[in-house]
Amino acid sequence: GAPVEVDTSTMQPGQKINLTWRGQPVWVIRRSEAALERLPELNDRLRDPDSTVASQQPPYAQNIYRSVDPEFLVLVPICTHLGCIPSFMPQPGSLDTNWPGGLFCPCHGSRFDLAGRVYSGVPAPTNLVVPPYRVADDGLIVVG
Ligand code: FES
Repeated sequence: GAPVEVDTSTMQPGQKINLTWRGQPVWVIRRSEAALERLPELNDRLRDPDSTVASQQPPYAQNIYRSVDPEFLVLVPICTHLGCIPSFMPQPGSLDTNWPGGLFCPCHGSRFDLAGRVYSGVPAPTNLVVPPYRVADDGLIVVG
């Protein structure tokens, strides 16, 4: 399939844009400063905090933000358990009092942080997939 472009220049922190690439959903999420600061604090609650599974992201997204530009997360929102679409719940406290913001799969309760990293003790075996993409000069993100 052809690459898909999105203009991120007017996105607000916490905003999500939905794309379709190769028949799959892709979400582009602009993370707030506070959300970025919380990511390292979650490491000991996650199954694979360092994103060691090579199939789940390109090499340039194997970092704590799982992204090229820390502000922008590009993610395939398909649960790595059995393929449901998780709910986008970026607000702290929106799932339960300890919830730091992230994605919640309603099918069997898998939880992911705002980098798509899976929590320990849930059915999903791996972090969510980050598709190949690049960030262009003019605020464009090009997926594919
Ligand atoms: Fe998401 Fe089972 S499909 S937890």
